[in-house]
Amino acid sequence: MTDPKRLIVNLFEMNTVGHITHGMWRQPGNQREHYKDIGFWIELAQLVESGGFDSIFIADVLGAYDVYKGTADIALREGIQIPNNDPLLLIPAMAAVTKHVGFGVTFSTSYEPPFTFARRMSTLDHLTDGRVGWNVVTSYLPNAARNFGLEEQIPHDTRYEIANEYLDVLYKLWEGSWDDDAVLIDREGSVYTDPARVRPINHAGQHFKVAGPHLSEPSLQRTPVIFQATASPAGIDLAGRHAEVIFTGGRAPGAVAKNISAIRDANERNGRRRDDTKFLVQAAVIVGRNDAEVTEKLDRYRRFTSIEGKFVHMSIPFEPAAHPQDISVREALTREGKQDVIDAGGMPLDITVGQLAKSVNESWDQQFFVAGTPTVVADEIERWLDAEGIDGINLRQYHSFETARDFVELVVPELRKRGRVRDAYADGETLRERLFGEGPRLPERHYGARYRGGKNLD
Ligand SMILES: Cc1cc2nc3c(=O)[nH]c(=O)nc-3n(C[C@H](O)[C@H](O)[C@H](O)COP(=O)(O)O)c2cc1C
Repeated sequence: MTDPKRLIVNLFEMNTVGHITHGMWRQPGNQREHYKDIGFWIELAQLVESGGFDSIFIADVLGAYDVYKGTADIALREGIQIPNNDPLLLIPAMAAVTKHVGFGVTFSTSYEPPFTFARRMSTLDHLTDGRVGWNVVTSYLPNAARNFGLEEQIPHDTRYEIANEYLDVLYKLWEGSWDDDAVLIDREGSVYTDPARVRPINHAGQHFKVAGPHLSEPSLQRTPVIFQATASPAGIDLAGRHAEVIFTGGRAPGAVAKNISAIRDANERNGRRRDDTKFLVQAAVIVGRNDAEVTEKLDRYRRFTSIEGKFVHMSIPFEPAAHPQDISVREALTREGKQDVIDAGGMPLDITVGQLAKSVNESWDQQFFVAGTPTVVADEIERWLDAEGIDGINLRQYHSFETARDFVELVVPELRKRGRVRDAYADGETLRERLFGEGPRLPERHYGARYRGGKNLD
């Protein structure tokens, strides 16, 4: 008999007060406002490591949400991803008090140049002994563009084109610039690094010009584990070449399977194996010791949910409540003079305003939602793994630290009994080894490996 498929467990986080479950910070006893304290992250990291989590994933945005009603006031008032702090700086603190849990961190390819980012990630890979991953994003907030000197956002597909070159520069630095045996630490011979084994990259592309050499010596993984979330053709193209872990979702039946198979096809087009990418879904797991506890949590979370917060987060470009609910979205946008939004596509135009409001309201109670006692929850997670074809979950939090603690204390023991979560971590394992069971480095068939030993740098 083959072993049951193991669940990858990732905690979905952000260095902010309100990440995706808007309004929840108001719950009595919720610790969210302590996101700015180092102790918050230390406690959280230790908690999830005690439950065998694979990683903590930290989202990030570089602007305020100001599309809905044309203002950032609601985001500010309701604590919707603002205030927020830098995600990378949390990692050394959490790494210092843990040994195993991995860290996925978000960084955008659209605004800051690749050279310094390459060094920052190498530093983190060193400090964590190979426990870091990078969530590649191109940033979707118009305000972020204005924070970096642009009048408006770079068009969607151009952002992905830039991201492709950005990754190229990074691989040249991470994989190609230093040989494994470059660092000699030869005290007698007075040689720290053998210069013959380090080279510049001399990248001269359309968007970046970088001489090199990389400033950091090789770390355990060299390239951090590459995470991405996408459903667009340009994004899937990028994922097929680069991504090792994909966040996927969607409420429509079959949406996840479609996304998975499109990315597996893209893997093949890039000379990779279909299963070279793992798929995690955002999961809402509400668990209680008994039905009364489950009901209490469900009621409480519903009571504190901010519906308007969801409109803000989804950057809905008009106010649904200000229109009759039975007119189409197209008509509402036309009445507000927002022809540009209609032309840009992306919005469902032919549903009614009422349907849009309802779907936004339900948008995060997706198909990966379960509320129940530990056995009910474990049954449903096993179904996601076996029937939906996912590899793991990105655990959405409603309360800090109730959500993580519940999962550790109630769900993990049940999943361990069923062989879905390991009983213990393997010592000294990098994040990539934990996820893929091969070596700590990108496999030879991955695009980034082409620069090893200084090959293909010209
Ligand atoms: C689970 C998940 C997490 C995400 N985290 C971030 C994030 O932290 N920062 C960000 O700018 N975008 C984030 N995104 C948005 C994606 O980077 C991307 O813009 C979105 O999936 C649309 O991609 P597409 O236009 O290629 O389909 C996230 C998306 C998902 C599904």
